[in-house]
Amino acid sequence: MTGTVLVVEDQETARQSLCELLREEGHQVYEAADGRAAIKQADELDLDLVLTDLVLPGADGLAVLKHVREVSPQTLVVLMTAHASVETAIEAMRLGAQDYILKPLIFEEVLRKIHHLMNHRNLAWEIQVLRREINRHFASDQPVGRSQVMQEILMLIEKVAPTPSTVLITGESGAGKEVVARTIHMQSPRKDNVFLPVNCSAIPETLLESQLFGYVKGAFTGAVGSQEGLFQRARGGTIFLDEIGEMPLSLQPKLLRVIEEKKVLPVGSNNPVHVDVRILASTNRELKEEVEAGRFRGDLYYRLNVIGIHIPPLRERREDIPLLVEHLIHRHNLEMKKNYKGVDNATMRTLMSLLWKGNVRELDNVLERAMILGNGEWITSADLPGEEAPEKEVSLNGNLEEALRGCEKNHLERILEKTGGDKKRAAEILGFSLSTLYRKMEKLGLDFD
Ligand SMILES: Nc1ncnc2c1ncn2[C@@H]1O[C@H](COP(=O)(O)OP(=O)(O)OP(=O)(O)O)[C@@H](O)[C@H]1O
Ligand SMILES: [Mg+2]
Repeated sequence: MTGTVLVVEDQETARQSLCELLREEGHQVYEAADGRAAIKQADELDLDLVLTDLVLPGADGLAVLKHVREVSPQTLVVLMTAHASVETAIEAMRLGAQDYILKPLIFEEVLRKIHHLMNHRNLAWEIQVLRREINRHFASDQPVGRSQVMQEILMLIEKVAPTPSTVLITGESGAGKEVVARTIHMQSPRKDNVFLPVNCSAIPETLLESQLFGYVKGAFTGAVGSQEGLFQRARGGTIFLDEIGEMPLSLQPKLLRVIEEKKVLPVGSNNPVHVDVRILASTNRELKEEVEAGRFRGDLYYRLNVIGIHIPPLRERREDIPLLVEHLIHRHNLEMKKNYKGVDNATMRTLMSLLWKGNVRELDNVLERAMILGNGEWITSADLPGEEAPEKEVSLNGNLEEALRGCEKNHLERILEKTGGDKKRAAEILGFSLSTLYRKMEKLGLDFD
């Protein structure tokens, strides 16, 4: 990790050896013998780091530090001082120095500190860039839908997003709870900080408390050091407690305390830690029923459910399907570098008639599969899964006789499959004679072998 460094030191020999040392490391090095010259250089150069003596002719090291902070906040500043005093160190850090080094200098220490600081800053940059990337990616992942209920949800999101309120998002699996949670975060003032989803059902009960709230050294066997919890790590941002219905009763009062007092108590500690985190939660269980059954605390439920957003299953808002199909195809086009135009009319009618027990996630999977298998332009019915096709609803304008025939055929097929093709056994189960079974099979077009 190398960069542009300015060395500020009035003692000629010390300055020369520092410059040489840093050049050898591969840095681009500039030098100044007094404070004023340093300030001038800081104005003109694009510096990664300033390494400055504290006592200098002209302006001293603290003045250099202050100036650099003002004109170039991203430049790192390290002070060197022979006059080791806690006060100057504190003052330097207060003014925004990243570190300070005691004289007489140990060269390895100087190099190590500079290397560490530059590395750290580069990582911080990378994180910022990645976070922006991720946000851009998820910004395109806003919930879409033209149904009345989806429109209402979008309006509600807009209203609650800027507030600090806790929101409970409910709906079947795959209905879009996490997209809604993410959108609330992205439209909130916390959008530049983390959105941290935590799946409460995926963490074993014994670990959940220490994972969520952290622990201190010695809290339990194996706790050799302290560890921050997820709440602390989400500070400034949003934590999304997925599957909140799975939270053990024993932990629920502790979560209530976080919501009410904004404080977490690490396992083994007596000192609550303040955390500034917004809480969103989701469940696919009927939480109210859980409360009535005594499996979920009523007080916590009401605290979580200040604002409730319920996402109905996809089959109750089929008018959303065309827009979702378009949105999901677009997303997969980008991911797979393909150029699908859409689905043909007949296929859209099929997609709109299915039951979608797995909701939008299932629709998404069906489309993804079709886009892998298809011809690259239009998705057709041939690209939809045949065997394990998502269950079809009985068509409203279908012919009854045809529907019954379909049911009969399905049923026979299933029984024959169960008996491994043993027709005698199948006939017994169905309450037919063997010849009746053969006749039916022939009528329904079923194979005999
Ligand atoms: N309204 C929507 N608009 C766009 N994409 C959606 C919508 N709803 C769901 N999706 C997509 O469907 C998939 C499943 O959504 P999500 O993960 O939010 O569901 P979930 O309700 O959290 O499911 P689970 O209960 O299984 O965790 C995701 O890929 C998501 O992007
Ligand atoms: Mg989810």
